[in-house]
Amino acid sequence: IVADDRAGLAEARKALGAGREGATLALVPTMGALHEGHRSLMRLAREHADHVAVSIFVNPLQFGPGEDYARYPRTFEADLEICAAEGVGVVFAPSAEEMYLPDRQVGVSAGPMGTVAEGAFRPGHFDGVLTVVLKLFNLVQPDVAVFGRKDAQQLALIRRMVADLNLPISIVGAPTVREADGLAMSSRNRYLSAEDRAVALALSRALFAGAERNTPAEIRRAARAVLDAEPAVDVDYLILADPATFAEAGDDHRGEAILAVAARVGTTRLIDNVVLTLG
Ligand code: PAJ
Repeated sequence: IVADDRAGLAEARKALGAGREGATLALVPTMGALHEGHRSLMRLAREHADHVAVSIFVNPLQFGPGEDYARYPRTFEADLEICAAEGVGVVFAPSAEEMYLPDRQVGVSAGPMGTVAEGAFRPGHFDGVLTVVLKLFNLVQPDVAVFGRKDAQQLALIRRMVADLNLPISIVGAPTVREADGLAMSSRNRYLSAEDRAVALALSRALFAGAERNTPAEIRRAARAVLDAEPAVDVDYLILADPATFAEAGDDHRGEAILAVAARVGTTRLIDNVVLTLG
């Protein structure tokens, strides 16, 4: 069932029977241009609920002025085929006009975690993400929502929003799906020329090199060395972050830490991360 507005969505939920007789619904929010990473989220969603809904919406609010909103890949027909193949019950694909009132004023503020790491390079980005995700939660009313660890800071902020705003939804994090050579799957990979794609492998190589070290200083040094060896990679940040705050982990940090990188390769901006355990 494909719904492009609230009325269609209400009908779709009724048709599924979700919310009635104890049937549960899991939502996978996406911006479309679906790939194997998104498919893995749909499969995980199926393990957590009776029905799966996928939203496809390229959210203008989370793109900055110089960013790629206009040229973000839009592959709606292929996306619908993928959803059908994965047994998705409802696809919610609203227009920007349906989602945002012309006189809207109120949104979600991501707080301090929204201003560090990725947030420092994309001011307002996480406010836009959380605002649209809260709206999607209110519209679809899922019991469970699934997000990828590929966007680790986004996942941490969504968990923060659910806790801070008492949202009655369980959040499930899904592992990052990679190409055989290590490149994290992303809708933006289709922008990469063959040459850029080879250069882009330095991101995952750097993270894997860092993951083999033990102390914060060694981890950062090993990852940085790989990036420095590839001058065509224009690094925005490389951070070993405390997963609760996304601030730089201190030298005495113990337990989970996230080694994250953002860089531009040609005109394409890529992000990636790995989770480490420091002993
Ligand atoms: P999008 O980039 O389309 O990603 C949708 C979901 O797929 C996110 O939870 C993301 O983390 C996950 N994902 C992307 N690539 C992945 C990979 N290689 N492995 C595993 N999961 C992957 O993230 C967004 O859209 C938007 O910000 C959104 C949450 C939909 C709000 O607009």
